[in-house]
Amino acid sequence: MDFSIKTFDAKNAIGLYKSGCIAVGIFDNGKLSSAAKSLDTKGTITAAVKRGDITGKAGSTLLLHGLSGTAAERILLVGLGAEDAVTDRNFISSVQSSARVFSTLGCNDALFALPLDVVRSRDSAWALRTTVVTIRESLYRTDELKSKKDAPKAGVKKLGIVTDTTSASAAKTTLAVSVAEANGMDLAKTLGNLPPNICTPTYLASTAKKIAKEFKLGIEVLDRKQLEALKMGSFLSVTNGSDQPPKFIVLKHMGGKAKAAPVVLVGKGITFDTGGISLKPGSGMDEMKYDMCGAASVLGTFRAIAEMKLKLNVIGVIPTCENMPSGSATRPGDIVTSMSGQTIEILNTDAEGRLILCDALTYVERFKPAVVVDIATLTGACVTALGHHNSGLFTRHDEAHDELAHELLAAGKESNDTAWRMPIEEIYQEQLKSNFADIANIGGPPGGSITAACFLERFTRKYTWAHLDIAGTAWKSGAAKGATGRPVPLLTSFLMKRAQG
Ligand code: BES
Ligand code: MN
Ligand code: ZN
Repeated sequence: MDFSIKTFDAKNAIGLYKSGCIAVGIFDNGKLSSAAKSLDTKGTITAAVKRGDITGKAGSTLLLHGLSGTAAERILLVGLGAEDAVTDRNFISSVQSSARVFSTLGCNDALFALPLDVVRSRDSAWALRTTVVTIRESLYRTDELKSKKDAPKAGVKKLGIVTDTTSASAAKTTLAVSVAEANGMDLAKTLGNLPPNICTPTYLASTAKKIAKEFKLGIEVLDRKQLEALKMGSFLSVTNGSDQPPKFIVLKHMGGKAKAAPVVLVGKGITFDTGGISLKPGSGMDEMKYDMCGAASVLGTFRAIAEMKLKLNVIGVIPTCENMPSGSATRPGDIVTSMSGQTIEILNTDAEGRLILCDALTYVERFKPAVVVDIATLTGACVTALGHHNSGLFTRHDEAHDELAHELLAAGKESNDTAWRMPIEEIYQEQLKSNFADIANIGGPPGGSITAACFLERFTRKYTWAHLDIAGTAWKSGAAKGATGRPVPLLTSFLMKRAQG
C-alpha cells in the first residue's frame, strides 16, 4: 500500500477530491463525523443512517455509490462506536473494516477520512500510526511458498490519509515512522513463518547482513571457532546435536552521539526446538519453528529504526542455533561451563533458550550498555501465566529497574503490544540449586517462567537489564497460525522514546 497524507480546507474541500472511495466515520448515536458531514450536502448519508442501514456500531460498514455533490466514486461509511468514548479496540476494528472493504473495491485509490482525534486518551499521531500498522497487517500474506497463490491482491493500492491542515507536516513524519515500523513487523513475521529447513541460523545471519548492507549498519557474524575461543560453553552445548552451524550475530545501529552508551537487544534464535534429548511430544511440534521469534523481533526492530534513522545507539545480539537430538547431542546430566565461568547442570535439554542467552548476556558486558533487553520465546509457563495478550516482563526490583520496567510497559501500551510485569525474587533462585554445579538449568514446574528469568538474572548483574518472555505473544496457533510481529511495536516505541531523551 502506498500511503500519503492529504489535507483539505474550505477552498480545497474534501467533496471536490476525485478518488475511487472516501471512508468516513459514523458514531453509534447516528451522528456523522465532520468529514461525513461535509460530504452530506444532499442529506443522502443522514438518510441512510435514518433508514437504519448503518448503526454506527464499531466496525460496521455501508458502501454508497454515485453520491451527488462529491467527486468520489464511492463513499464508505464506517461505524466508530460511542461518540464520547471511542476505545482503542473500536478504532482498530473500524480500520480493519475499512481495509477489508478497500481490498475488494474495483478502484485503485482511496481516501481514509475517519476522524483521528476521537479515540479516548489517544492523540492523532496514535490514531495515524494505528491506521497504518492495522492496514499493513490486513495486507500481510503467507502464500510465498504455495504453488497456487491466494486470490490476487485486488483493491485499493494508494491510500491518502486525511489530517487537518495544521498538523500536516507532523503527520508526514508520523506516517514515515509508522511505515518503517510496519516494515519491521513484516520482516519479523516473514522470518517467523519461514519453515525451519529454510530459516536456519545461516539464513538469519545472511538476513542480518542484508539489512546491514541496505541500511549501512555495522555487522559481525561469529562462527563456531570464535564462539569456542570466547568459551561460550553453554551456547555451544545446545548446538551439539545439530548439523547446522551455529551463528552469533552482532548488529550495530550507531545513530546517537559517539560516546553515548548503547541500548542492547538480545534475541533468542533457536531456529527449531525439538527439545533435544529431552524430546518434546510430537503434536504441534512444527510450531517450534517460531522459537527464533526473539531474534526475528530484533532484526525487525533494526529494520524499523534504521529506516527511521533513529538518533540512538542500539546494538542487537542474536545467538542462533538448532536444538536437535543425536548421538552428539547434550545429555540431561551434562555439566557445561558458561562464558561467565559459572557451571551449569543441564537437567533438561529442552530448557535451551536460557543456555544460549546466558552466554550472549555475558558477551554484551563489553558494550558497557545503558540497558540490555532480551527477548525470547522462553517458557510454556509464561503462556500459562499470561495467555496470549501480554508478554511477560521481568526485571530486578530496584529503582533503576523499576524505571526501565515502567518505560517498557508504557511503550507496550502506546503501541498496542502490551507486557505485564512478573516478579523476580531471590527466594525463587533456590529452585535452581544443583548438587553438582553452580546452577541447574531448570527449577521445576512451579513458577516456570520466573525461574527461567532468575536463571538469566545471574548473568546480568553488571548492567541494567530486562527480559521479555514472548512465548505467548510471538505467534498464533490454530486456523490463524502465523507470526504476529510482536514485540517489534513495543521495542520500536521504547527506542523512539529513548531517542527523544
Ligand atoms: N521454546 C520453548 C518454550 C515454549 C514452549 C514456547 C511452548 C512456546 C510454546 C522452550 O525452549 C522450552 O522448551 N521451555 C520448556 C522449559 C522447561 C523444560 C523447564 C518449557 O516451557 O516447557
Ligand atoms: Mn526448549
Ligand atoms: Zn526453546
